[in-house]
Amino acid sequence: MPSMTLRNILIHPDPRLKKVCEPVTDVDANIRKLADDMLETMYDAPGVGLAGPQIGVMKRIFVIDCSGENATPDPMVLINPKVTWESEEENTYEEGCLSIPEIYEPVTRPELVRMSYLDADGKPQETEFDALRATAVQHELDHLDGVLFIDYLSKMKRAMITTKMKKLKKERARA
Ligand code: NI
Repeated sequence: MPSMTLRNILIHPDPRLKKVCEPVTDVDANIRKLADDMLETMYDAPGVGLAGPQIGVMKRIFVIDCSGENATPDPMVLINPKVTWESEEENTYEEGCLSIPEIYEPVTRPELVRMSYLDADGKPQETEFDALRATAVQHELDHLDGVLFIDYLSKMKRAMITTKMKKLKKERARA
């Protein structure tokens, strides 16, 4: 098994978090190493999802694991994901993001979503996601299009959070 590397997670605001990512053209050893690093970085944080741009890799790839602390790990790698169906029913969850630490706000999204994607072996897959997993995959797919969960909040709230994050970044740079 190749050794894994923890990657640095970008904190909002950062121009790389606002860009549309490029499709992965080839699921090769480099992409598998990237996926392993992303999972390792996500578990270390800890978080339930991490997208390429959050570590400065502008490619359409994200990882999730929504199994919870006491369950068997359930790592998933989604490459070039596309929504193929979503429910009319919606769900509201308190969302957070590793690029916006310690901020949690309710966001409403479709309750169920189906996505097609390539897995870490480059095989085409289609999976229906519900509950927390549905929220996680939609949140992560947004990252690949330069959208953050705070973009669903009011302008005022978003500005307050951005100010807080700028302060946090300054503090961390000093530490
Ligand atoms: Ni996020």
